[in-house]
Amino acid sequence: MREEKIVFTKSSFETKKFAEKLAPLLRAGDVISLTGDLGAGKTCFVQGLACGLRVNKKITSPTFALIKEYLNSSNIPFYHFDVYRLKFLQEMLDIGYEEYFFGEGITVVEWGDKIAPLLPDEFLEIKFKRLSNENMRKISIISHGKRWAETAKNWLKESRKDLCTDINTSEA
Ligand SMILES: Nc1ncnc2c1ncn2[C@@H]1O[C@H](COP(=O)(O)OP(=O)(O)O)[C@@H](O)[C@H]1O
Ligand SMILES: [Mg+2]
Repeated sequence: MREEKIVFTKSSFETKKFAEKLAPLLRAGDVISLTGDLGAGKTCFVQGLACGLRVNKKITSPTFALIKEYLNSSNIPFYHFDVYRLKFLQEMLDIGYEEYFFGEGITVVEWGDKIAPLLPDEFLEIKFKRLSNENMRKISIISHGKRWAETAKNWLKESRKDLCTDINTSEA
């Protein structure tokens, strides 16, 4: 089951706020894959998510380490992967990715499309695209599996009043 919804944000602040609203809907074992070019807004989204999860650390991309692990006040681990520089899937096996993806924490993966074969059957895919207006982003929310379709619906319901979901732009 695959379902797609689209929203637009007009600033990095809006993207963070949108991400923050997803946090309360997440639970241990969740995997979220973020895709889109450099500068599209993936890390910005992770920062909002971390804020919503009450992670009180500054989030930067773990470009050289593949993964950074954070603890929040309720002790649910938050795993932030950035696989931009990954060359071989084997590197994920070497760091024991299953312990993260199928463990007790919440996982978010920047450039998740690079490790598509390793993603679980059910995951949330979020695609970021820059539009010609410098601060405008098209965000596609693609739910893989019933749980995510339901979660995405609730997330968008929470966000609807803050976000534009229906604009006319030929490039969107
Ligand atoms: N609507 C928006 N959403 C997210 N980021 C935005 C937006 N508008 C401008 N930006 C800027 O775009 C850049 C996104 O960078 P980043 O999140 O690191 O991208 P990525 O991780 O995808 O490479 C930041 O400098 C951010 O301030
Ligand atoms: Mg990034």
